[in-house]
Amino acid sequence: MAHDVVLIPGDGIGPEITQAMRRVVEATGVQINWNVQEAGAGVMDEFGTPLPQHVLDAVAETKVAIKGPITTPVGTGFRSVNVALRKHFDLYACVRPCLSQPGDGSRFCDVDLVIVRENTEDLYAGIEFDEGAAEVEELSQLVERSGQKTFAADSAISIKPISIAKSRRIVEYAFEYARRCGRKKGLTAVHKANIMKATDGLFLRVAREVAANYPDIEFNDKIVDATCMGLVQNPNDFDVLVLPNLYGDIVSDLCAGLVGGLGMAPGSNIGADCAIFEATHGSAPDIAGQDIANPTAEILSAAMMLDHLGENDAANRIRAAVSATLDEGKQVTGDVRRAQTGSVEGAVGTQAFADAVIAHLA
Ligand code: NAI
Repeated sequence: MAHDVVLIPGDGIGPEITQAMRRVVEATGVQINWNVQEAGAGVMDEFGTPLPQHVLDAVAETKVAIKGPITTPVGTGFRSVNVALRKHFDLYACVRPCLSQPGDGSRFCDVDLVIVRENTEDLYAGIEFDEGAAEVEELSQLVERSGQKTFAADSAISIKPISIAKSRRIVEYAFEYARRCGRKKGLTAVHKANIMKATDGLFLRVAREVAANYPDIEFNDKIVDATCMGLVQNPNDFDVLVLPNLYGDIVSDLCAGLVGGLGMAPGSNIGADCAIFEATHGSAPDIAGQDIANPTAEILSAAMMLDHLGENDAANRIRAAVSATLDEGKQVTGDVRRAQTGSVEGAVGTQAFADAVIAHLA
């Protein structure tokens, strides 16, 4: 049976890595009807928005999409298309496995952990007020009335909502994932509840309540800064980490660095009835259009998508082929070559790496 999948190439290195990914998926023989949809700055002029309604409609129909990264202007301009997609489809669980590959060039050789990031609230809620906005003054008065020391009049404000229901569903998702995947070392809830007693305190309280329903899975909690130090020093102390949105974002990149870098770290955004797969990394404008980006993260994201579609055999074949290609070490992209040898000499391009993976497909 052919699967209907929306493919959003994105921008920056997106078109290159999604092309490589698509060729690898097609080489497995799994039949996919790719519905290619454009989003981001490139469609702003034509549709007046970086995320046109017809793209949302297409994803709503297929319920499965894979995308390349999409650039978000820094400080000003339109809000993130990536965040908007996650919110629109309520893709509340961002799952990012970080697994050492032989030959990934990392300092560690046996990292095997999974980030489960809450994807819809926290400081990513997009509730913000610019410096000088009337709401800032109103908020200041509200804070004063509450008896708390208020903030400087020239402040900008971002609001951090953390709710019981959304904390509960992400922690439950993480426990169910840990159980389903037979994760042995257990689950760590990551927070900063010593400082943000209301928001992170709530997240931690809910996590502890949920943990009581999973006595078969070891549970602990850790403050986010200590978690970062622990991950860098002893990543094997960790297994599944569940985090609110912003910490999940930052810790994901840290963990990508433990397994060879951003080019190696796949991911998925999962909701109740829709899923969008994408690498952890962004659009990497510094290397775009040069056929040097590492498509591994995108290819492994496609393997996660194939698992989601019930094509586990093809997914496993892709993972094995990527692993064999990296292990062999002859045809790797510059980021991996540099991590291995200190120089990019002898590296291959994005499409040549995909060719090597295809050649290794069993
Ligand atoms: P980035 O992840 O794009 O790049 C960080 C560094 O990692 C760069 O040096 C880049 O060259 C390198 N890198 C990333 N992916 C790579 C790959 N596949 N192969 C080899 N090297 C790779 O982060 P940055 O520069 O902060 O963000 C660029 C843009 O991407 C921003 O507009 C940001 O908002 C957006 N972004 C989009 C995401 C998405 O679409 N889901 C996620 C993260 C960022």
